[in-house]
Amino acid sequence: MPTVDPLLKAEAISKSFGSGDSLVKVFESVDLTVLPGDFVAIMGPSGCGKSTLLHLLAGLDDPDSGVVAVEGRSWQGRSLEERARMRGETIGFVFQFHHLLPELSVEENVALPLLLAGWKEERALGEARECLDRVGMMPRHSAFPRTLSGGERQRTALARAVVRKPRLLLCDEPTGSLDAAHAAEVFELLTVVARERAGAVVVVTHDRAWARRCATMLHLAAGGLNPSVEDGPPGAPYGNPGPSGSR
Ligand SMILES: Nc1ncnc2c1ncn2[C@@H]1O[C@H](COP(=O)(O)OP(=O)(O)OP(=O)(O)O)[C@@H](O)[C@H]1O
Ligand SMILES: [Mg+2]
Repeated sequence: MPTVDPLLKAEAISKSFGSGDSLVKVFESVDLTVLPGDFVAIMGPSGCGKSTLLHLLAGLDDPDSGVVAVEGRSWQGRSLEERARMRGETIGFVFQFHHLLPELSVEENVALPLLLAGWKEERALGEARECLDRVGMMPRHSAFPRTLSGGERQRTALARAVVRKPRLLLCDEPTGSLDAAHAAEVFELLTVVARERAGAVVVVTHDRAWARRCATMLHLAAGGLNPSVEDGPPGAPYGNPGPSGSR
């Protein structure tokens, strides 16, 4: 059988913060392989390190030990500029706390990754509006982030994450502020994005029902990332093929 190159591979990564008496050991020995087409949910209690893990996967922070590689290229030893370029080409990231720029309008926030990639303003804004339409945010395209509800900010952040059609989408609780209908729409959008470029999605969520619709459900703990003990429901859109944490 032909082997498929992973989009993302994390091997034996460990992370702690601080030192001495204030040392916080977050996790050890986390392995994760994400292949094209994968849809992975990561669950775990508050403070177990889910956001920390996503930051390491995206090269926004470095593990104490272990290696993370995206499309076969490790983050290790790369400059901040090189990492930013790699991230821009391959990864869309939805931060837990949005990180929208307050001085830019909704559509300008979404167009920003394209402008940074050298797109002309008019074309970038056109693309941004298409993405805003997909998350139901066109009515608020000229608003500023401070005037948006939590869910509207979340949907804007998602539009910004997908505007460059990334192959790998890393989302930190993208439905945390959304009602059930909007959460279901976000699920569909993530699925479409994952398929568009033979991509994959890794999503941190506290929403168990939502997580059960993902192909793979993993549980993060201090000792690593393990398959969730719970199986997906019969007829779940992606089935539940089992562990990919140790794959
Ligand atoms: N920069 C930092 N300096 C010190 N400790 C940190 C830092 N970032 C995170 N931590 C600690 O690491 C642990 C994991 O934090 P993280 O934000 O990854 O948790 P989480 O699983 O995303 O939680 P939540 O579900 O509440 O978002 C926490 O104990 C947190 O206090
Ligand atoms: Mg978090």
